[in-house]
Amino acid sequence: MNGGIGQRKWPIRKTGLLNCANELSMQALSLWSQLSMSGFRLLSVLVVAAALMAPMLCVAADSSPSIENGKATFNTMCNVCHSTQKTGGPNEGPNMLGLVGRPAGSQPDFGKYSPALKASGLTWTVETLDKFLISPMAMVPGTIMPMLIPDDIKRREVIAYLATLKKE
Ligand code: HEC
Repeated sequence: MNGGIGQRKWPIRKTGLLNCANELSMQALSLWSQLSMSGFRLLSVLVVAAALMAPMLCVAADSSPSIENGKATFNTMCNVCHSTQKTGGPNEGPNMLGLVGRPAGSQPDFGKYSPALKASGLTWTVETLDKFLISPMAMVPGTIMPMLIPDDIKRREVIAYLATLKKE
């Protein structure tokens, strides 16, 4: 067993209600088995009660980002430069179709990438985009991507929207 009860973390993922409820219940279950083995009867009853309440806790913690809101924000902040269409649209920045999953600086139709972004070695995932969009220049010094989204909720919504933009 790694670590005592006091060192447990509670990684409540914000990706979905089921994930979250599952995770909380599993954590509570393993805590319960530790407690009941060590004779903390009363505590273990409380932990079981907490496990049963996990779905309710998760309703409060769930914050699946709104794709609709993300699209609206993208359309006001980003689509002057970035196209989301198969052909055409603005070309001041790279096309966003298929962004999530591709290496940074790799959109073949975009000829104006900075050397910094191309050499960054990044691949775009929800996590790397989250960090990049807080401050592109902080994450990739020398990038010419000028826009940042400091607001946590707005940024997650935009990323959720970007993840829906598939190439096919
Ligand atoms: C004024 C034009 C402009 C605006 C507005 C803009 N960008 Fe960009 N964006 C760029 C340019 C130029 C690059 C290429 C950066 C480089 O090569 O360093 C870029 C690159 C990117 C990349 C990396 C893409 C790749 O293929 O590696 C992402 C992600 C991105 N922008 C997201 C956004 C988002 C999200 C917004 C809106 C919040 C936004 N951008 C607004 C110009 C813009």
